[in-house]
Amino acid sequence: MRNANQQFRPRGMRSLATVAHERGFSSAISFVRPVERLQMNQGNYHQPVLEKEITELLASQEAGVVIDATLGGGGHAAALLARAPQIRVLGIDRDNAAHTAATERLSEFGDRVRMVKATFAEMETVVAQAAEWIGGAPIVGVLLDLGVSSRQLDDVTRGFSFRADAPLDMRMDPTSGESAAQYIARVDVHELVSILRENGESRFAGAIAHSMKRALPTTTDELTASVEAAVPMAARRRGHVATRAFQALRIAVNGEAEQLVTGLAASINLLSIGGVVVVISYHSGEDRVVKEILHQAHTGGCKCPVALGCVCGAVQRVEVFKASAILPSVAESETNPRARSARLRIARKVSQ
Ligand SMILES: C[S@@+](CC[C@H](N)C(=O)[O-])C[C@H]1O[C@@H](n2cnc3c(N)ncnc32)[C@H](O)[C@@H]1O
Repeated sequence: MRNANQQFRPRGMRSLATVAHERGFSSAISFVRPVERLQMNQGNYHQPVLEKEITELLASQEAGVVIDATLGGGGHAAALLARAPQIRVLGIDRDNAAHTAATERLSEFGDRVRMVKATFAEMETVVAQAAEWIGGAPIVGVLLDLGVSSRQLDDVTRGFSFRADAPLDMRMDPTSGESAAQYIARVDVHELVSILRENGESRFAGAIAHSMKRALPTTTDELTASVEAAVPMAARRRGHVATRAFQALRIAVNGEAEQLVTGLAASINLLSIGGVVVVISYHSGEDRVVKEILHQAHTGGCKCPVALGCVCGAVQRVEVFKASAILPSVAESETNPRARSARLRIARKVSQ
């Protein structure tokens, strides 16, 4: 049985399936349905998903600190701070542009907000460094609103989307790590096949990977062309032919698998008893990993036969709110296209 308090360390960029498997989550993630849509939001920085539900839940918590580990434009944080005077927010984002937007949006809340540029895998260090500001207050909530913001997708200089030509970057933090173009140039064709397969590109993964390695794209248009060259017109499915390839590369370039496993484990570690962890994911592979980690924290890793009762001494750390993911309403999905692929999971910490 895995020790639930065990610390996880990032180890480079690997797939959700590989990482989940190595970390002891049975996770039969062999196929990720392409549910994330690269929708454009021309208005605000980012329209928060499931804002009402999340704000209500976090605002009902006792006085303390909520870690918004994916601060973005500060939409969820602003709603929470406005509604819950007993709550302070420690905001984390790895993107400087998010910090600029959130600083402006949250300035009215003064010292009730502290923002840190970091990854959420580094959450425990961030909390340790903010100890003075936290002042011994309980961590009553952690929010992980995964993936990229609408602004990141819309900003044509960032290279996240096939909808405009741009340098093939895709880093949430463009000041660190390698760009998608460098990643394609560095890895071998087998790694490309593997990340494409895990993102649901089963039939043409090999052809696309070889085409990418031949083309060594440095712009989004070149990447799109290399995918198009590998997939016959007759075999193209609904949606854009390059959707899965763009998503697979983004996940790999940003080490999203490692980030999720490490960040969610850290969230559970940091919460006070009674605190809640709230996770919104946007594709099925990600949601399956969240479900698996929360389930493991719920059972404490116990695999004893139900008839015998638990004899292994496993400790339940969280209770999970609902077995199935919570989905946005039809009305929200109609007004905020990004909400269509969202899945919300919540767990409350019950023991250390
Ligand atoms: C979906 S947006 C969050 C939007 C935010 N909830 C709001 O209301 O504006 C995700 C944000 O999380 C950030 N992010 C994603 N993964 C991250 C990670 N591993 N560490 C830190 N920030 C991350 C992205 O840069 C992006 O700004």
